[in-house]
Amino acid sequence: MHIPLREDVDWVGHLDWQVRDFHGYEAVRGTTYNAYLIRDERTALIDTVKGPYAAELLRKVARLTDPTGVDYIVCNHAEPDHSGALPEVIRAMPQATVLCDKRCRDALARHYDTGGWRFELVGSGDEISLGRRTLRFVETPMVHWPESMFTYVPEEKILFSMDAFGQHYCTSQRFDDQVPLPGLMSEAKAYYANIIMPFGKQVAQTLKKAAELEMEMIAPAHGVIWRSRGEEILGAYADWAAGRVSRKVVVVYDTMWESTAQMAEAIVEGAACAGAEALAMHVRRTSMTRIATEVLDAGAVAVGSSTLNRHVMPAAAAVLTYLEGLRPVGRAGLAFGSYGWGTGGPERVHEWLGRMNWELPEKPLKVQYRPTPETLDTCRRAGARLAHLAAERADR
Ligand code: FEO
Repeated sequence: MHIPLREDVDWVGHLDWQVRDFHGYEAVRGTTYNAYLIRDERTALIDTVKGPYAAELLRKVARLTDPTGVDYIVCNHAEPDHSGALPEVIRAMPQATVLCDKRCRDALARHYDTGGWRFELVGSGDEISLGRRTLRFVETPMVHWPESMFTYVPEEKILFSMDAFGQHYCTSQRFDDQVPLPGLMSEAKAYYANIIMPFGKQVAQTLKKAAELEMEMIAPAHGVIWRSRGEEILGAYADWAAGRVSRKVVVVYDTMWESTAQMAEAIVEGAACAGAEALAMHVRRTSMTRIATEVLDAGAVAVGSSTLNRHVMPAAAAVLTYLEGLRPVGRAGLAFGSYGWGTGGPERVHEWLGRMNWELPEKPLKVQYRPTPETLDTCRRAGARLAHLAAERADR
């Protein structure tokens, strides 16, 4: 079913209720691939959907207009979740010209046989008239790929924002005011943490460009459309892009015989008693998606691992690899963990956190075999110090 945003501006995307693993991202509520059709003197399709859903997109378009008469297909982003349907869509829309920037055209040519496709290259500030409406383009490199672009329709005050402001959130509702706000913001936060976090500087530049536009709707490529809560999502993006954190201490750990788990819980207890929001996450019982989401606004993060074969336990190493790639900056950190006859786990975690340029005021916190009441007190005091470091960062 197509959904109107305005008269002759319709959502024609796909609801993916089934997906839970989106190239490693745990999409607990599924996702949507949003495409939009603008019917005017000339007709434009804004983006497509993932390849397997091309026929459904074309069915939705065909209920509104003859696909063979579509004039333009805007490709704001070449990633296959939005461009995968392009080959089939272009076969069904033989008159259509693909509007994208040069980087996008080159990326599409690496993915598909684009030999017979008609392209018109556009860049920031360029406009294409559809008749009563105009497509204006704003390049937004690295939000999320180098070729990413916004398309703005000034007459409707709608920004088609591609991945930015999206959520992996499948719902029968299409607008922000039709779903509970806490759940929506939680999905938007998870999406930012796991997809957009490495590109904070580019997001800040993009927000400046967006601030110049008069917007009544922000229509992203995933999730619901912002029409009532635009200020909330723009404000949240400004905070996340600036790396603003809260008085929160996140303790991430793996444990072999529960010694490191006891240390983790003592660190949490110490941090909470010192006034921080504090939580512990066992890496084999918590998805990396959720861990990254909690780290996004944590002022301090402790990472623990028991020593296994003089090394970090593999699931903890996987989380460290993931976090290193996402590049949360400016955190206070602490490495901790247990060991038996040979050490290595906490020390390797400490090295890893150092490579991430986190502030590590303390040596790795270690216990041999089992924590004693005294070592658990040491962990509580370390948790309290982390709470103070988180507060310092939150107050900056
Ligand atoms: Fe939803 Fe970067 O693609």
